[in-house]
Amino acid sequence: KRPAGAPDRNLARPVTKVGVVGAGLMASQLALLFARRLQVPVVMMDIDQERVDKGVGYVRAEVDKLLSKKRISADAANRAKALVTGSVSKQAFADADFVIEAVFEELAVKKQVFAEVEAIVSPECILATNTSSLSVTAMADGLRHPERLLGFHFFNPVAVMPLLEVVRAPQTDDAVLATAFELAKALKKTAVLVKDAPAFVVNRILLRLMGEVIAAFDEGTPPDVADSALRPMGLPMSPFTLSAMVGLPVAQHVQESLHAGFGDRFPVSGNLKKLIDNGVKTLWVPGPDGVPVIPAETLSLMS
Ligand code: 3HC
Repeated sequence: KRPAGAPDRNLARPVTKVGVVGAGLMASQLALLFARRLQVPVVMMDIDQERVDKGVGYVRAEVDKLLSKKRISADAANRAKALVTGSVSKQAFADADFVIEAVFEELAVKKQVFAEVEAIVSPECILATNTSSLSVTAMADGLRHPERLLGFHFFNPVAVMPLLEVVRAPQTDDAVLATAFELAKALKKTAVLVKDAPAFVVNRILLRLMGEVIAAFDEGTPPDVADSALRPMGLPMSPFTLSAMVGLPVAQHVQESLHAGFGDRFPVSGNLKKLIDNGVKTLWVPGPDGVPVIPAETLSLMS
């Protein structure tokens, strides 16, 4: 069945090579997914060799895990590893048909990335952003071919989460959108078409829930109480574990985008900022008997 709002699939163009800008955790998960599901070469690009090697290393290690769980054959594992390569130069994207970015969540950074990529790729190459909350319309502004850009927003962990938000900006071309939906099908993701609005749909709803948990501890409810209060509701992860998995800075960027778009309906947490500024990555650490505890230093950072 064609997803609601998807253009005629005959408009879709083939994708024979994928470029991934960034080699961090999200970018590496994307590279692995594209290589496994599309069986096409995927090149990951980052600013230095160390980052690139780390990203490619992550992909290889994940493939080895799949192999040890007997989830894939030895042949498929070798193929996936051979398909994913790394580069420190955007020239590696010259013959790509689809380039997706998963770099730092800042509009100016992403615009710069796309301007540089556009100077290298063919006019037909599709550009996609995995942004969590930034405006896709603003990102396309200034491109030579703004109609080729769209949002392709995956969820963490990419290998497991079935949903994919396909973000159409006003200028996004039908052929670009049709290709995105065909890609989503090949990636075995459930694609939904969403409008270009702050944090799109899922993060907007999710942040309402997580934002209220964070607001409760901003207002003095002990964080462990605020966090564990939701556990009996059958959530797969407690709100703080989830924010640790997606990364506290990402959670903060989503809060900021929602605040910019909707004002006081989405406040920005002062405590979250304090924790991030002090380098706190996760609220919980394993305590005695495996019961998670919040370190006293972390607690002392929160007002
Ligand atoms: N990478 C690859 N595979 C993973 C994984 C990872 N990071 N984490 C878990 N898995 C796999 C496991 O290997 C396991 O596979 P197997 O059956 O082959 O062994 C399977 O997922 C189930 O894992 P577990 O049994 O360890 O644990 P759970 O049953 O608790 O499931 C979970 C893990 C699916 C991550 C579940 O806890 C969950 O759904 N959590 C919520 C995730 C969520 O809400 N994500 C959205 C975040 S928002 C976002 O990403 C948007 C962004 O813009 C901020």
